[in-house]
Amino acid sequence: MPSLVSVVGLALAIVPVIASPAGTSFESCLRPKLSKAAKLITAQSDVIVPRWTEYKEFSTGHIVNVSTEADVQASVQCANQAGVQFFAQSGGNAWATTWSLGENDVVINLRHMNSIEFNMERTLVKVGGGATVAELTDAAYANNTQVVTANCNCVGAMGATMGAGYSRMMGERGFMIDNIVSFRVVLASGEIVDASSTTNADLWWAMRGAGGNFGIVVSSIMKAYPTPAAQNGAWVGNLIFSEDKIENVVSAVNNLTLTSKMAIFFYFANGGAPDYTPVFMVTPFYLSGGNTTAATAEARKAFASIFDLAPEADTTTWTPYNEVNAGSESFCVTGNRKVSYGAAQGQLDPTTWRAIYTDYTNFLTENGGDNVGSSLILMEAYSLQFAEQKGDYSSAYAWRSTNRFNTVAIAWYTDESLDETANSWASQVRDDWRATSGLKSNSTYINFAFGDESLEDIYGDNVPILQSLKSYYDPQNKFNQFFPLV
Ligand SMILES: Cc1cc2nc3c(=O)[nH]c(=O)nc-3n(C[C@H](O)[C@H](O)[C@H](O)COP(=O)(O)OP(=O)(O)OC[C@H]3O[C@@H](n4cnc5c(N)ncnc54)[C@H](O)[C@@H]3O)c2cc1C
Ligand SMILES: *[C@@H]1O[C@H](CO)[C@@H](O)[C@H](O)[C@H]1NC(C)=O
Ligand SMILES: *[C@@H]1O[C@H](CO)[C@@H](O)[C@H](O)[C@H]1NC(C)=O
Ligand SMILES: *[C@@H]1O[C@H](CO)[C@@H](O)[C@H](O)[C@H]1NC(C)=O
Ligand SMILES: *[C@@H]1O[C@H](CO)[C@@H](O)[C@H](O)[C@H]1NC(C)=O
Ligand SMILES: *[C@@H]1O[C@H](CO)[C@@H](O)[C@H](O)[C@H]1NC(C)=O
Repeated sequence: MPSLVSVVGLALAIVPVIASPAGTSFESCLRPKLSKAAKLITAQSDVIVPRWTEYKEFSTGHIVNVSTEADVQASVQCANQAGVQFFAQSGGNAWATTWSLGENDVVINLRHMNSIEFNMERTLVKVGGGATVAELTDAAYANNTQVVTANCNCVGAMGATMGAGYSRMMGERGFMIDNIVSFRVVLASGEIVDASSTTNADLWWAMRGAGGNFGIVVSSIMKAYPTPAAQNGAWVGNLIFSEDKIENVVSAVNNLTLTSKMAIFFYFANGGAPDYTPVFMVTPFYLSGGNTTAATAEARKAFASIFDLAPEADTTTWTPYNEVNAGSESFCVTGNRKVSYGAAQGQLDPTTWRAIYTDYTNFLTENGGDNVGSSLILMEAYSLQFAEQKGDYSSAYAWRSTNRFNTVAIAWYTDESLDETANSWASQVRDDWRATSGLKSNSTYINFAFGDESLEDIYGDNVPILQSLKSYYDPQNKFNQFFPLV
């Protein structure tokens, strides 16, 4: 009779041969190296990683909840040794369809590396690679300062930064990438380096716009802007316009000169069950440190051409900065299928937007509000002054001055059998935008792109230089899951 110990020993010896050899050797390589707080979650297959969209969701055999820099390094090294693919995740919001992860592969979940530390002056902040916009916004507000972040609470701060990071504050302070002092990065080899304007400056350049191709940011030093609590807010809210005003409002937004404190968004959405009546909603934003009275007066003056068109409802008001993202919480809901096609435009064409409104209402009617009622169209416009001054070649993000308006069509549903209908509607909307964009190419913000764009649409003129940096920093193309350069 063999002892229990030897049976277990035998099982361990046999498993790699019978089951998944690569996966098992990843596990046996990693387990002894992990820190105490880290967690390795395995199930030979079907470990679904909860993400914003379930469309083209991937399964992986391993999720590593990392807790230290060394955990990240070990995860990369062991994946390399085992010959499996890996992918870093923070907020889980990326919707692009460029993944190829399989059941032996590894997700490096950075969410627990979310520490946030301000310096004494509150002019700099060290942000963990897994921190979310919510965590960063709350910590900044509590410390009487501001940090440039994306506009939705659920987004990973570094996830957004890898692509550029559009923020309501960008008219005054630029993109998130313009607020990075340095990154601490785990490279494809597992080596850890710093990247800044003075250290590995080429990597620092590449990671600000094409970050997903180059490394995993374990932490970053970002700029912060001290702001006393009484002034730490902005004027924001929703205006509802009747649908007959679409052409006029679109034209007014197109004509509006956005000064540095302004940003403006609009949406085709609907009022929900039972009727799913389409709604045209405009959300202006004004970064004002003033009190409610002063901020409202300044903002209404800035957006006079929009108010002149007589909204039917108006919820705009001065709001403390830790509550400014509240209006976008419904957009953060995880799960469901969300097929999302983004495009950029140099102009807004009222006729195109009328056609898209008609298509949106038809899409709801034909497929039923109960099935596709969360679907929406969105448009974002920011003041580009600050970003333009930096110049298109100041970072890898190629479209800082080109993409005046960013738009996304999101088909949002649960029933898999609607995949084809959803793709056909949302991609048609994108075709309509592209046809009247007034731009030379189909330039698209990487974080809003669908996944079928050309490399030039995503990286512009920077493709050759990025590819040459890629061959230096990641010669074996380990970072190949998000708009891979090779
Ligand atoms: C609800 C919602 C709101 C959004 N709002 C905005 C917005 O206001 N402004 C804007 O610019 N974009 C916005 N986006 C787009 C957003 O920037 C992208 O979806 C981004 O990729 C999400 O990052 P994440 O960390 O949440 O997602 P993830 O899927 O976890 O990661 C996205 C990509 O970044 C990589 N990555 C994540 N963390 C790291 C890290 N620490 N180091 C290296 N690579 C990393 C991943 O490998 C992946 O390639 C929004 C998206 C959604 C769904
Ligand atoms: C891993 O992290 C996720 C959050 O990103 C959490 O939901 C999950 O419970 C963690 N798993 C373990 C085993 O700690
Ligand atoms: C300030 O930020 C730190 C993180 O640096 C956080 O722990 C703290 O709660 C915040 N608030 C105050 C009032 O310090
Ligand atoms: C926008 O500008 C164009 C060209 O000057 C003008 O024809 C149009 O009426 C303007 N739109 C609005 C809503 O004022
Ligand atoms: C608000 O600010 C304005 C302009 O700075 C000032 O004149 C006014 O007295 C302030 N009102 C309140 C209630 O603080
Ligand atoms: C842009 O995309 C459209 C399809 O949406 C295509 O017809 C057109 O040729 C593309 N334009 C360029 C310049 O690539």
